[in-house]
Amino acid sequence: MEMTYTNLGTTGLIVSRLCFGTMTFGQSQWKLGGVDQKLADEMVHTVLDRGINFFDTADVYSAGQSEEMLGKALGTKRQGVVIATKVRGRVGSGHNDAGLSRKHIFDAVEKSLKRLGTDYIDLYQVHGWDALTPLEETMAALGDLVQSGKVRYIGFSNYAAWQAALSIGISERLSTARFQTAQMHYSLLCRDIEHEVVPLCFNKGIGILPWSPLSGGFLSGKYKKDIEPASGTRVGDRGMWFPPFDKDLGFKVVDELRAIGSRIKATPSQISLAWLLRKPAVTSIIIGARTMDQLNDNLKTMDVKLDDQSFGKLEDLTAPKPEYPGWMIGFQGQDRLPKA
Ligand SMILES: NC(=O)c1ccc[n+]([C@@H]2O[C@H](COP(=O)([O-])OP(=O)(O)OC[C@H]3O[C@@H](n4cnc5c(N)ncnc54)[C@H](OP(=O)(O)O)[C@@H]3O)[C@@H](O)[C@H]2O)c1
Repeated sequence: MEMTYTNLGTTGLIVSRLCFGTMTFGQSQWKLGGVDQKLADEMVHTVLDRGINFFDTADVYSAGQSEEMLGKALGTKRQGVVIATKVRGRVGSGHNDAGLSRKHIFDAVEKSLKRLGTDYIDLYQVHGWDALTPLEETMAALGDLVQSGKVRYIGFSNYAAWQAALSIGISERLSTARFQTAQMHYSLLCRDIEHEVVPLCFNKGIGILPWSPLSGGFLSGKYKKDIEPASGTRVGDRGMWFPPFDKDLGFKVVDELRAIGSRIKATPSQISLAWLLRKPAVTSIIIGARTMDQLNDNLKTMDVKLDDQSFGKLEDLTAPKPEYPGWMIGFQGQDRLPKA
């Protein structure tokens, strides 16, 4: 099936429903992939052929190599695509080589532009909260970057809903560009954002970009209960499960994915991604891969039809536990439902 497209947040920018994440590019200090330039070129050309026009990277991925390799792989195709990158992580040992101060943001954007080989970034995202910088300073600096044309749109990642809501309020007060996207961890094994971030995104028209949609590869079904993860896998090589999740539930979900897969002829990875594609407020899923086989597997998600019954089964199995005040808001809200 063909790629489908949607608007990014409340903007007129059109992006593919799958975004290609390039965290596996380069010799990562985090042992995430080690994809070299030749394989990166092949991956980027494959996803472009399959209709993906949206790419995600960050200044900290493989200490800048990921941005450099993505820029090279795109070459003359750059104008036709949407590039998202990030700022916040530590990129040097100096006091101001991390965070979201005006100084660091302005320095970091220049370096990202250079590495990417472009004169503008389509979507510039704050990679996480910076407790040391006033939000007013960050939002004003980001707004100025949009004014300058170096950045077209801005987004947040890994913010609590209250942090994002405060940021948006400040941008509105300053009449500057506001966050259009929320890049958050979201998968069958982590639906925490449904408590607070998803309702905020609905309210403000913010597009959700799920990261680690396969829980770091676990939802591919390749890890087995009671068997040590093999080397050559992310978990085996890193000796850690990241992002964290409930293992018992994880193996139950993989069993369910296999059962659904045998009915609808799809792999666990494809069904996990297809489930996310059906979740309201999700704009584009950031897929990741270390090999061409994995990439081709994940790209076939666009062919998968996840029927209502299978979708409902996964919804019930992975439903987030009620949290206060969410359950009280729901309880009190019963008298605010319009009469049928
Ligand atoms: N904003 C943030 O804080 C943040 C954090 C993390 C990621 N991200 C973004 O999200 C993107 C995706 O994250 P992610 O790489 O963690 O996604 P993921 O889909 O959860 O994990 C991808 C990894 O799982 C394995 N895998 C993928 N497809 C597979 C398949 N079909 N069969 C078997 N194994 C498969 C591969 O690892 P192995 O082969 O090595 O096992 C691959 O590198 C990143 O590239 C980055 O752009 C953002």
